[in-house]
Amino acid sequence: MIGLKSKLGEWEKRSTPFYAYDLQVLRTTLQACKNSADKFGFHVHYAIKANARPEVVREISSLGFGADCVSGNEVQWALNHGFAPNKVVFAGVGKSDKEISGALDQQIHSFNCESLEELEVLNELAGLTGKKAPVALRINPNVNAQTHHYITTGLDENKFGINRQQLPELLDRLSQMAHIELVGLHFHIGSQINNLEVFKNLCLRVNEFVQWFEQRHISIKVINVGGGLGVDYDHPDQNEIPPFESYFELFDRFLERKPGQEVHFELGRSLVAQCGVLVSRVLYVKHGLKTKFVILDAGMTELLRPALYQAKHKIENWSVSPEQEPDVETYDVVGPVCESSDCFAKSIELPVTKRGDMVVIRTAGAYGEVMANSYNLRALEAPFFNG
Ligand code: LLP
Repeated sequence: MIGLKSKLGEWEKRSTPFYAYDLQVLRTTLQACKNSADKFGFHVHYAIKANARPEVVREISSLGFGADCVSGNEVQWALNHGFAPNKVVFAGVGKSDKEISGALDQQIHSFNCESLEELEVLNELAGLTGKKAPVALRINPNVNAQTHHYITTGLDENKFGINRQQLPELLDRLSQMAHIELVGLHFHIGSQINNLEVFKNLCLRVNEFVQWFEQRHISIKVINVGGGLGVDYDHPDQNEIPPFESYFELFDRFLERKPGQEVHFELGRSLVAQCGVLVSRVLYVKHGLKTKFVILDAGMTELLRPALYQAKHKIENWSVSPEQEPDVETYDVVGPVCESSDCFAKSIELPVTKRGDMVVIRTAGAYGEVMANSYNLRALEAPFFNG
């Protein structure tokens, strides 16, 4: 972040709020991920949903990553920004007919199919043009990701993935679908997972599923274990690079691989979270009856994560230099939006803060700008790129 901090002077002339990205941090992160994945022969697809900025996406495609997309527009976006069609996968519980047909035309690597109902539609649409749709079946493994319940996807109660009790029926039906080619199995149990033990549990479950298919003489070419590796929101400087090495090593240890079998990952957050920050100015420091509020010109409209998932992002006042050993004060840091959930942090210590100070919200490169919205007819300023 040293790189971005040195841009403070340049930012004085800019309107806030805006996202700022350090492309050097992005490159270092991507390289670390790639080195570790290559070491074990793993393939990584970037989950475009985490950050779709062309400047970010192009860095990722240029290093040879694949793309994990969850809408027809994301598929098109990936193709327009340098990802090869045979490295694009299309996931999601609710693909529309139009999205499916578009992706079939583009000859992508595979569709991650989430239900029998979807498979039937895919078979029918592929049949209309005499194509065979490559499919990875997304199975709900019922593995607890130990993360916020809104970003947990692999439990029986979640809408995601094929219910495993349906697998025998599904195989039966699949054998009658002339336009589906089964290429693999897909799993994704959740996001912001910091306990690596969870991924061990996933591996053990995946091994059972792969075996189940192979016992039925169905070979699985691709095992896609999804994404979910967490990042350190509390210590972004100390842990700028996520623990890719131990993450991949764990899969290498616990996931059973046959020769020729490919293992795919779909990482989003861990690749882009630390390279981005949200930059805002303090509008007011308001003295409430019980609390002092720092009111920013950024709110839940620009960064929804705290309001939606009670997420905690590190907040820093970059207008006050730590070398000056400033006095500190306890504040609630809030946005201007007409909702009480528009609050970034409660009772945190910041240097004594005043109107006009630049306040930076860290680790905002993933699921930040992409989730921004125009509630209250608010508008985000153009992003800033460094490097
Ligand atoms: N694959 C699938 C099928 C997914 O649904 C997701 C994320 C990923 C891969 C990438 O997961 P990651 O490596 O980024 O954890 N907006 C939330 C996160 C939603 C995650 C949705 N799916 C947040 O701000 O925390």
